[in-house]
Formats: sequence, C-alpha cells, structure tokens
Amino acid sequence: FVSHCFILLLSAPISLAEEQVDIKRSDFPHGFFFGASTSAYQIEGAVHEDGKGLSNWDVYCRIQGNIADGTSGDIANDHYHRYMEDIEIIHSLGLTAYRFSISWSRVLPRGRHGGVNQAGITFYNSIIDNLLLRGIQPFVTIFHNEYPQELEDRIGGWLSPVMQEEFVHFAETCFKHFADRVKYWMTINEPNLLAEVTYERGLFPPARCSPPFGHCAGGNSDVEPLIAVHNMLLAHAKAVKLYREQYKSKVNGVIGITVCAYMYTPLTESEDDTEAANRALAFNAAWMLDPLVFGDYPPEMKRYHGSELPSFSSEERELLRDSIDFMGINHYGTLYAKDCIHSSCVCNDSVYTLGSDRLIRGFVYTTGERNGVPIGEPTGMSQFFVVPRGMEDIVNYMKERYHNKPMFVTENGYSSPGNEDDVYQHDVKRIHYHQLYLASLAQAVRNGADVRGYFIWSLMDNFEWSSGYALKFGIYRIDPQTLNRIPKLSATWYKDFLSNSSLGV
Ligand code: NOJ
Repeated sequence: FVSHCFILLLSAPISLAEEQVDIKRSDFPHGFFFGASTSAYQIEGAVHEDGKGLSNWDVYCRIQGNIADGTSGDIANDHYHRYMEDIEIIHSLGLTAYRFSISWSRVLPRGRHGGVNQAGITFYNSIIDNLLLRGIQPFVTIFHNEYPQELEDRIGGWLSPVMQEEFVHFAETCFKHFADRVKYWMTINEPNLLAEVTYERGLFPPARCSPPFGHCAGGNSDVEPLIAVHNMLLAHAKAVKLYREQYKSKVNGVIGITVCAYMYTPLTESEDDTEAANRALAFNAAWMLDPLVFGDYPPEMKRYHGSELPSFSSEERELLRDSIDFMGINHYGTLYAKDCIHSSCVCNDSVYTLGSDRLIRGFVYTTGERNGVPIGEPTGMSQFFVVPRGMEDIVNYMKERYHNKPMFVTENGYSSPGNEDDVYQHDVKRIHYHQLYLASLAQAVRNGADVRGYFIWSLMDNFEWSSGYALKFGIYRIDPQTLNRIPKLSATWYKDFLSNSSLGV
C-alpha cells in the first residue's frame, strides 16, 4: 500500500524551519473538535494531598536512576491547585475539547479494598463543570499509566487477571460520578506502548524485563507484554459493557480506547520489507484494535506467536467484539520496517531504544534511517521523526482495516530537541510540525476518513515519564521557579488557527 513515489519523497526529509503550510480550521468539517491533551500524573502534583494514595509512579520516581533527571510528579505543574487557571487558558485558546485523565490513586487510594476519596471526586467534578460551563467538551481517559501502588503489591498489576476487576471497579466509580456530564470516554491510554515499556523494556514501573534488555531483571520480555495487554483488553471490554448497560444513556455518551499508532513504511521496495511493515502495524495498533473490533488478535500475530499469545474464550471474544465506539489514535512518527525472517537483522544491544533501531515482535527491525538518511527531521525523542505524510497513512490504515470506524487523533505533538534555550526557533518548528500534520490529516478527512477531532500533546510542558522534565511537548511553558504558565508562539498560532485568521510564521 505504500507507493514507490512515497518512498522517494521520504528520502528528502522536510525541514521544519522552512516549510510554509496553508492549513485552515475551515479545512475540517463543522463540529470537528480541536483540543489539547494532558494526563493526571504528568501535571497534577499534590501527590500526598487531600487523601490521595501512593501510586506506582510515586514509588518508582523515588528510586534513584529511574528518572533521567531524578525528578518526579510530586509537584509537576501543580495543576491540582491551578486547574482553574489552566481551564481559563484552554478557554482563551478557543479549544472546543480538553482531554485529561483521572488519577486512580486520587479517587481510590487503595483500589477496591478501600473507599472513594471524596476530595478526588470533588476535584474532577470541578474540572468537568468548569469546562462545560465554558463550552469545552471533556474527553476523559480513565487510566493513563498511574495506579495505586497497593495494586502492584497486592496483585502484581497488569500481569494479574485480578487487575481486570480492579479496573472495572475504578471505571464504575468514574461512571457513577461523572457519566451524567462526560460524553467522551477512553478506558485506557496506549495499552500497547505501556505493556512494551513496562514489561519488555523495563522503563515504567514495575520495570520488568529480561535479556537483551539488560538493565533490569525479574521479567520475561517475550511473554509478559502479551499477558499485560490481554488483561487490559478484557478489563476494557468489561468496563465498556457496564458503561453501555448502565451509564451510556445518561448523556448518550461514547466510549473507546486510545492506542499508540506509529506508521511503518518498508525500508526497501522488496516484498519482504513490505510485509514486514504490514506486520509491524499489526503488532502495534492492531494488537489492540483487532480484538476490540473483531473479537480476536490479528491473524499476523497469531501466525508468528503460536502458543505464547494468550487466547480468548468464545465468551471473551463475544465481550470484546465491537467494544469501542471510536478509536483514539496517538500518532507521533513513522519508522522504516525491515524484514528479519528472510534476512538477518543485526541488533546492537546499545542501540535498543524504544522505537528506533530495534527488533520488535513479528521479526521486524525498525529504524529511523535509510543509507544514513533519516526518515524525517529528528525531534527531541530519538524514536520520533517528522514525517507528516504518516498521519494520512495511519488514518487510512485504520479506515481500511476497521471499516471507517470513527476516530479521534487523541495525541500528536512535537518535542523540542535539547533544551529550549532558543525558544523562538524551536517553537517555529513546533508550529510547522502541527501545520504539516494537520494538513496531512485534512487530506485523509477529505478522502472520507471519519476523523472527528485532533488534540495537541500537550497543553503545557510536563513530566515526561522516565525522561523527567527535559523533554518538552507543550504549547505553554512552565516557569521552573514560579510554575507560571507562559504561552509559546505555538499557543498563539493555535489560537489564531482556531479563530481562522492567519498568522504568518
Ligand atoms: C504518549 C503518552 O500518552 C503521553 O503520556 C506522553 O507524554 C506522550 N505520548 C509523549 O511521549
């Protein structure tokens, strides 16, 4: 499906500083949501306040060496105390939607084995009410990486099927309190990436892995990600069933999931590499979406995994099938895919970083370079390159594979390389990144893809998990001393774009 012509185009990476793009809000359908995304642990802070319990990330960040810059989300952007200011910012930008997540440990400090923390409910009620008061649609992610540490200690997190019931209890608590106003729900953020970084690469708590991921121990990198995803998919489906039966009718809401959706394109024009790119797609987003749409894992995965891949009973398949109303797509970048079944792929352990130069499941080696030429301009994250065309391609892939089920681009964002000393220069690049990706998305929409919204990651710089605060995706800067919110040029551009006037940058 990837044309020869596309490959040639890719070999001349786009320079973000030079590109001029003509993209307007009116290029998108009426009612298309434009928003920004955040997640609880990355912005809230106040980790020991008002009855919040200890979370897996609270514990993980305290262990030296786990976070690149030794930081944590203890204070983060202090959104817990400044959320009204943040809502005013969202409003002033003219966003029509805001995507955020509920902190599991703030709402249920001890999981199922303890009560609801009323202060947590009050906090999210106030966010929801104040968004709605300003005409902003809340898009709520129920679980975004953070859960009560007790669930890790007591049941072993997502490796245990018991976690499914814990999640359903948490989801039900959210539905009970918020489903009378929230119309857009996502059960889980990026289960595919979460399983990979937690149980394959050992970079997220509880950081389990086995060789060749040499820095940690105690896991099995081949099998545990599959088990964790299996439990997350079933947890999702059970929560959706409950939502549809008991809560959906309150405001006729919809519920979906958000997946990490890289685009893959063949490294060469060979048939083997073309198949490898298809396999990479199946082992990434389709790993989540095939079960939730068709009721079972992708045939590509079943073929290559054999008995390692857990199987679903017929009741479970029934439960899973059609358990999403929409697909949330987090899209950041595109990678080349090389076949490792018919030719050998030499992988140097030292370059085993997430997404780039790595052997992934499905016997595919992915890389950001061909003959020394990168697939796109690099960003602050080694695995993400700027390949705007990838947005149209991944959306088209979803459209074809899932019969044009409704989609939201729930995350798309640019991390500045290095520090942002030259704030202006970096931000011109961020603006161009968003313009180029929006133009590519608009093309897919024009060709009939049912995409209903676009969210920038992120409203503001925040705690980027194991990378700490060094990586910055925000359209607002956070002053490290005062925690004041300072609009970047990209914030002004977004506002302008949304009001349909043209800001020349
Ligand atoms: C994916 C995640 O959902 C979010 O938490 C993260 O900060 C961004 N992408 C950037 O890596």
